[in-house]
Amino acid sequence: MGDSLLISGASQIVTVRGRAPRRGNQLLNIGVIRDGAILVRDGAIVAVGPSSQIEKLKPSKKAKKMEVGGRVVLPGFVDSHTHLIHAASRAEEYELKIRGVSYEKIARKGGGILNSVKKLRAATAEELKNRARGFLGQFGEYGTTTIEAKSGYGLDLASELRILSLHKELDAEQPLEIVSTFLGAHVVPEEYLGKSRGTQKYLELLITQLLPDVAENGLAEYCDVFCERGAFSLRESRSVLEAGKSRGLKPRVHAEQLSNTGATRMGIELGASSCDHLEYLKPADIRALRRSNTVATLLPGCDFHLGLERYAPARELIDAGAIVALATDFNPGTSPTLSMPMILSLACSRLRMTPAEAVTAATLNAAYSLGRAGKIGSIESGKQADLAVFEVADYREIPYYFGVNTCWMTMKRGEIVYLRD
Ligand code: NIG
Ligand code: FE
Repeated sequence: MGDSLLISGASQIVTVRGRAPRRGNQLLNIGVIRDGAILVRDGAIVAVGPSSQIEKLKPSKKAKKMEVGGRVVLPGFVDSHTHLIHAASRAEEYELKIRGVSYEKIARKGGGILNSVKKLRAATAEELKNRARGFLGQFGEYGTTTIEAKSGYGLDLASELRILSLHKELDAEQPLEIVSTFLGAHVVPEEYLGKSRGTQKYLELLITQLLPDVAENGLAEYCDVFCERGAFSLRESRSVLEAGKSRGLKPRVHAEQLSNTGATRMGIELGASSCDHLEYLKPADIRALRRSNTVATLLPGCDFHLGLERYAPARELIDAGAIVALATDFNPGTSPTLSMPMILSLACSRLRMTPAEAVTAATLNAAYSLGRAGKIGSIESGKQADLAVFEVADYREIPYYFGVNTCWMTMKRGEIVYLRD
């Protein structure tokens, strides 16, 4: 038996107890324990409750003590949508967008995703890895303990495999868990554009070579597609997700981001774990989501960064009973942030989610969308000791202080990954 650790003196422990996703009013039920303590052993939570009770437990007596001095403890954030591996920023496009050129226009002119593809192909694996290491450190500094990471800036066999292998290597060498997703269907790469049947030929490569290779080498758990004008049609997206599914990769979808394509209902039909973005949802899509176990993952960082007025209908989704999650969509084109606290601020002020709803969406519901609600996403006995401690007295102050990082300590499987000096 390893050493025990007793974390005590928290002004609030936000437990978000449960192994099932939360819907509707249940998002509000975050189970705050005042003056709380947590007993940790072998990387797992053994007990959580009021300090007076937990301190009386026999193993608490011999445990190492950590006093968190009136701070707030949350389950570590689960960021269920990121594009971790990319070679460079697109700050020049940011300025163009501010001057009024749209995201889609920049993409049509060879910027956008293809710009990032060019840069990634020119980078060495070592450069990509070092850059990603830096980002992973920063995720930890903002209280995130698990991320999903998508490929999709390689778009040829060697480059896509390089990205997915990096997910695996990085997962093994540093404390945060990385859940890998294959996004070969991000856009049609440059070398296929303007060719007769170019899209068809790229999809053939994707389905007959990339997917089998990814699956055989166990390089991804999920398969994603960008279903949008300028990317892949509904029919093309379905063919990729079905091929992925037949190889054991569970579907996720970039859906209704810039227009309504029907991707959400297609995703639900295929049993997708998550449909993400959803700015252009229709009432019928919301009805379909509420009846399904497909998570509606909202990414308000994109709309904020692109300066768009239209955000996803979070209130309607929650009130209808859909499973709502929040994520950063960390990527160089539409959402260059890895701060989940900032996403919580946007969710509260722009999506009109309450702080409690936002916390549930960023922890338990996001964990569920990654098939990990039995292990992470809440503070309760039996789950991994993945915790984030904030320099505030009330959990609502985390989104309230927008653009400010109040994270004081982050713990993954009982190990400190970040502690503010
Ligand atoms: O989630 N929508 C597609 N993919 C990314 C954007 C990628 C990029 O612009 O580089 C997203 O927003
Ligand atoms: Fe994305």
